[in-house]
Amino acid sequence: MEEEKKTFDLKEVAQHKAQDDCWMVIHGKVYDVTKFLDEHPGGDEVLLQTAGTDATDEFDDAGHSDNAKAQMEDFYLGDCAELLKTKDKDVSAKDHILNATESTTESVGILSKFLQFLIPLALFGIAVAIRRYGNEGENVA
Ligand code: HEM
Repeated sequence: MEEEKKTFDLKEVAQHKAQDDCWMVIHGKVYDVTKFLDEHPGGDEVLLQTAGTDATDEFDDAGHSDNAKAQMEDFYLGDCAELLKTKDKDVSAKDHILNATESTTESVGILSKFLQFLIPLALFGIAVAIRRYGNEGENVA
């Protein structure tokens, strides 16, 4: 049977910030790094400084390798509901900008289609006018 995925809130994570009980949130996921403190190549101090908090920025700033990211799976406890929500908000904000850009592009498209139709019509109108005035001139002479 598949293991049930747990969700935690930041308050709960904040209660685990000790050397013998160390949790943190990275990219919306909760990790228990207690057993990893002694093994972490970056040292236990940096981990303890961010213990009980969202350490996403610090983790990203250290420029971790793919190997480090794969290692994280061993410490994964569950998701942090609040931070996943914040992430969703970011995405919807990006979508909003994208939609705005798309609709601008769309209106530019409509305008260019309109001009494509209008310009030949205007040229045709000018040609007819020249013909008519030209003929009138001939008649007068
Ligand atoms: C589950 C969480 C973490 C895992 C599995 C992990 C794993 C690793 C690994 C394997 C390395 C060696 C270099 C590499 O392969 O990229 C490393 C280096 C490092 N880590 Fe982490 N790390 C974690 C969290 C963090 C956090 C939260 C911070 C900062 C607060 C941090 C700071 C660093 C630093 C500064 C180094 C560089 C050490 C050096 O090059 O001297 N790590 N980490």
